Amino acid sequence: MKIAFVGKGGSGKTTLSALFIRHLAAAGCPVVAVDADINQHLGPALGLTDAQAAALPSLGAHLPEIKEYLRGANPLIRSAEEMIKTTPPGPGSRLLRIVEENPVYAACARPIALDEGSVRLMATGAFAEEDLGVACYHSKVGAVELLLNHLLDGPDEYLVTDMTAGSDSFASGLFTRFDLTFLVAEPTRKGVSVYRQYKEYAQDFDVHLRVIGNKVQSADDLDFLRREVGDDLYASFGHSDWVRRLERGDEPPLRELEPANREVLGRLRTAADAAHQLRDPGRYSAQAVRFHLRNAESWGNAKIGADLATQVAPDYVLGIEQPRTAGV
Ligand SMILES: Nc1ncnc2c1ncn2[C@@H]1O[C@H](COP(=O)(O)OP(=O)(O)O)[C@@H](O)[C@H]1O
Ligand SMILES: [Mg+2]
Repeated sequence: MKIAFVGKGGSGKTTLSALFIRHLAAAGCPVVAVDADINQHLGPALGLTDAQAAALPSLGAHLPEIKEYLRGANPLIRSAEEMIKTTPPGPGSRLLRIVEENPVYAACARPIALDEGSVRLMATGAFAEEDLGVACYHSKVGAVELLLNHLLDGPDEYLVTDMTAGSDSFASGLFTRFDLTFLVAEPTRKGVSVYRQYKEYAQDFDVHLRVIGNKVQSADDLDFLRREVGDDLYASFGHSDWVRRLERGDEPPLRELEPANREVLGRLRTAADAAHQLRDPGRYSAQAVRFHLRNAESWGNAKIGADLATQVAPDYVLGIEQPRTAGV
């Protein structure tokens, strides 16, 4: 299952995604954790020291190898250089699985041992100030889009992404690549305004969105969220002393998390698992093509100097065995 955590900076995306990841790992589920936030904090939130986090490989730096691997023997993609972040898989492309060894994980993922279980972590890499709004920033997040478009994952295995709710994930197709998106919102006007903006972008794309209230301290907080978010409010995580301990540099074990907050993590998993029923591989692949054509036209064709629409394999659906047609 492909799960995203989005929301305003400071809302608690990293905190809740790290907790959800630990919850899944503690249950023995295979998890790939992806840090795609502008502020790269997922590693430390999963217990890495700053030095270990700084030593993580970055997806952005390995983009050429990632493209070369994923392209495989797909004859529609003539070279890795012609592959852009939205280039969809086709016959001959290599797909990734959550549980396997592959050159992408070898280069870009690092195992993290948790107090209960373990996960693989991948990080887009730090965004320099000057990256924001320019090609470099897009290519870092673009690596995540490529991985998601080439990922074959089943129920009970998870890719969890800690992500910015910014306009970059809307310009590309990234925000449509998840089975479920958790929008973390504090009970404040700013918190819910990010929700409204996200919902507006998402509504034409069948994005499954659930709002998770965070730092909810009182009945008034909860009433506010209920009023502003309505039925999209799925769960609320309270203000947590356990999280404060973490902030102080303690390493509290997961089992000491407040029971009510632990229960919220269980509910997140229930929602993630239920999203499997909503999967539509045909729609997923069709959306990838739609965003690819849009990106090709708006900048890709000009940048690469080729008609990137020819990279689309008609009728290819991710996860559906493709008939091997002569000449394709
Ligand atoms: N439920 C919570 N209870 C107490 N503190 C929290 C809670 N959620 C987040 N925080 C704190 O709020 C700050 C921002 O959280 P963070 O997860 O880094 O946000 P984001 O990733 O959205 O920018 C951190 O200091 C974090 O420890
Ligand atoms: Mg963060």
